[in-house]
Parts: sequence; structure tokens; C-alpha cells
Amino acid sequence: MTQVPEGQPLSVGPNLRQGPLDHVEAGHPEMSGLDAEPEEPPSGPRLTGQPQRRGRRRLALVCNVKPGVAVAPAHPAAEIPLDENEEFDSPETIAALAHLFSQEGYSVTVLEADRTLPRRLATGNFDLVFNIAEGRGGRCREALVPALCELLGLHYTGSDPLTLAATLDKDVAKRLLLGQVKTPAWRVVRTLADLRDFDLPYPVIAKPNDEGSSKGIHDDCKCADFTSLESLCRRLLDDYGRPVLVEAFIRGPEVTVGVVGNARPEVVGLMHVVPTQGEPGDFIYSLQAKRDFAARVRYAIPPELPHDVCQRLEAAALAVFRLLDCRDVARIDFRVGPDGEPYFIEANPLPGLSPTTGDIVLTAKAMGWTWEALITRILREAEFRQGVLRPILVVRPEQKRKKPRTLHVVSLPTTAAVAVVR
Ligand SMILES: Nc1ncnc2c1ncn2[C@@H]1O[C@H](COP(=O)(O)OP(=O)(O)O)[C@@H](O)[C@H]1O
Ligand SMILES: [Mg+2]
Repeated sequence: MTQVPEGQPLSVGPNLRQGPLDHVEAGHPEMSGLDAEPEEPPSGPRLTGQPQRRGRRRLALVCNVKPGVAVAPAHPAAEIPLDENEEFDSPETIAALAHLFSQEGYSVTVLEADRTLPRRLATGNFDLVFNIAEGRGGRCREALVPALCELLGLHYTGSDPLTLAATLDKDVAKRLLLGQVKTPAWRVVRTLADLRDFDLPYPVIAKPNDEGSSKGIHDDCKCADFTSLESLCRRLLDDYGRPVLVEAFIRGPEVTVGVVGNARPEVVGLMHVVPTQGEPGDFIYSLQAKRDFAARVRYAIPPELPHDVCQRLEAAALAVFRLLDCRDVARIDFRVGPDGEPYFIEANPLPGLSPTTGDIVLTAKAMGWTWEALITRILREAEFRQGVLRPILVVRPEQKRKKPRTLHVVSLPTTAAVAVVR
């Protein structure tokens, strides 16, 4: 993996030009000199999932690359929070994904999800879009790439725009689950005036309603009284310009559950995030804790929790996955309450896929998967869901005969029907 010196601006161009990625096409604007104009599509609509030509299938890896230079507190644009780019992916993650997809037989083009994306996607003649773009903008930012794919009739991995928008807005996700999955009591604060009738018992946690990667969630986000809640809400409203979600603080173990699949979703594993300092129940998996994860937490996979609690967590994760119409992959965060019940915190249908730090990746690895197996599973889920790949027909030559031909489905893995024709 190419290492990028600390403090240097990051560019995926040089990294992708090296070694195994020589054949990866570059559509990313930072790939100077490699930014070939995508070829024109064939005339006529592309309505089926089948590749339109022989040869390598074309995959667009659509992402937002994390810039290398953080905004320093003394920066003139100090109003930009320091976690501005926290959700975005590193060039190392993108290079690893591109390399894997090329090994899977795709001709890979890396595209930044910016204003040039519509034109690049429209003219790229892609068979599949692998979407990891977190997007920029408001609460629908994660939905933009899937919506664009739908407009252009392109197949894409992961959840659709509705699910991505509904899960990024934590208030909306909780409302959709209400009465079906336990979730902490909450209020939405759009202006400080909304605190006038605040009636939840303390302690509470206040966090931006539609951010991710613990943006705006610091170690001091737990509030024991109205004064601290009001000042925290003021800061979050000022910094993020977004509504604040105030929730009952669930004092109990933190577990995140990885799920893959579609019709029959499957739990990849449960990651119990155990703090290495402080009172475990008071733990907040804050921005600081995520950045300094090696020192501040350890991951217990499977969780150091009773079997029945783990079973309830799995059942709740699968229920959330279905109720929110997630597709292909998602990671769902819970806190376990004093009653031993899982409380839904949020769903992440675009979980980080870093080979070294992604929570779902670490979970999968601890459960015996390789990173490659996890990513190709997500890819296959999307391919078969949309007919980009057809189920494989295996013909046993020694059993070939003219008539009768019976189709026996001998195995139905969740990704594909593998049928044997006898
Ligand atoms: N209601 C809550 N009770 C206890 N801890 C919470 C609660 N909500 C959030 N947290 C803590 O804050 C972390 C980040 O919150 P989360 O809603 O998952 O935001 P993000 O989308 O940024 O990951 C959680 O992983 C958890 O540690
Ligand atoms: Mg979270």
C-alpha cells in the first residue's frame, strides 16, 4: 500500500499509477495526466444488467477522497469544523478497492463525486458503479450518487437514495423504526428556542442530526443538566448549521453489527467497542476516540456480553436492515441498555471499507473473513441483485445428455443461485 507522508497534500494519481494499478483508468480529477475522457456510450438505451460488449466490464468507483491537509484551528476559514472531511475515504482505501475490482475482471475508473460526476457517469459506459461516496451538502448528500445512477439507468452497489437519505437523518431513521426496534427517547433542536419545553430526563447526549464518523461528537457531548445542554446545542448549531439530535444517554455497552445481503441478510459479526479508560457505561465513541482508537478502545469480537444479549443484537440489526430497506451492506450501531435490550443509535449503509480501520472490516476479519472476501461479497450482492452477472450454470460434461434436461438447484448461497444442469 502506498504510504502518504504526513502533512503532504494527498493525491491518488501517483499512487494509482504504480504497480498493480497500472491498468486502472483514471477519471479522478486529481489524477493529472491520466484524466482520459471516458469513451462515448453506444447509442440506444441501456436497460438490462448485461454487459453491452465483450471484454472487461467497466466499473466506476465513485468516492470522495480525503484531502491530506487538515484545516488548522488558526486557519482563516476557522469556521470550518476540523472534522470537515472526516467521512471521506483515504487514497489507500480507494487504491485497494480499485486493485481488487480490477482483479475481479473490471476495468476500473475512479471518479470523485463532484460536479463533474454527472457528465463522467453519463459518458463512461459503465456496467456497474461501486458507490462509497459520502457526498457534500445537507442531509441528502449520500443519496446524490445513487439518485444520479437511477437517472442515468446505471447499476450501482448499496442502498438506494431513499435509504441513504433516511439513515443519514438520524431523526427520520428513528421515526421509521419507532415501535419496532427500541431507540433512545429523543428531541430535535433546530433552534435554541426548541429547548424551551425540553422534557427528557438527564443525562442526554447532543449530536448533529445528520453527520457521520462522529463529526461534532466529542467527549463532552454527554450533558447532565440544562446549562451544559444549552451551551452544547449552541455550539453544534453554530458549527454545523444543522439540527441537533438530543437523545437519552444509554449507559451500557456499545456494539456495532455488520450485515451483508439482500433477500436473506446475514450478520457478518458483532463488534463490542470497549473503552480502555474511564467508566465503560459513560463511554462515547467520539471523534477523538475514533481518531485515537488504538489507545482509547479495544474491539471485542465477538462481544464480551451474554449470549442472549448478542442474539438480541443480531435480531435487532437484521430487523433494522430490513425495515430501512438496506441493500448489499450496512453497519448498525447500538448501545445495550440496563435492561439488556439493544437500543438503536444509527444505521450506516455506507460503512467505511478501509482494509485497516473500517469497523465492519475489522469485524469481518475477526470472524474469519478476509477484506477481499468482504468486498467481493458486497460486489456480488450488487451484481446479482441487478443482473450485472447472471447466476452461473455449471454443466457437468460427463453427465451431458440430450433429453430430458432437468435443472437441479443444488446450492442457493445468498449471493447467487449456482445451478447444476444434469
Ligand atoms: N443515545 C446515546 N447514548 C449513548 N451514547 C451515544 C448515544 N448516541 C450516540 N452515542 C455515542 O456517540 C457515538 C457516535 O454517535 P452516532 O449517532 O453513531 O454518530 P456517527 O454517525 O457520527 O457515528 C456512538 O458510537 C456512541 O458512542
Ligand atoms: Mg455511529
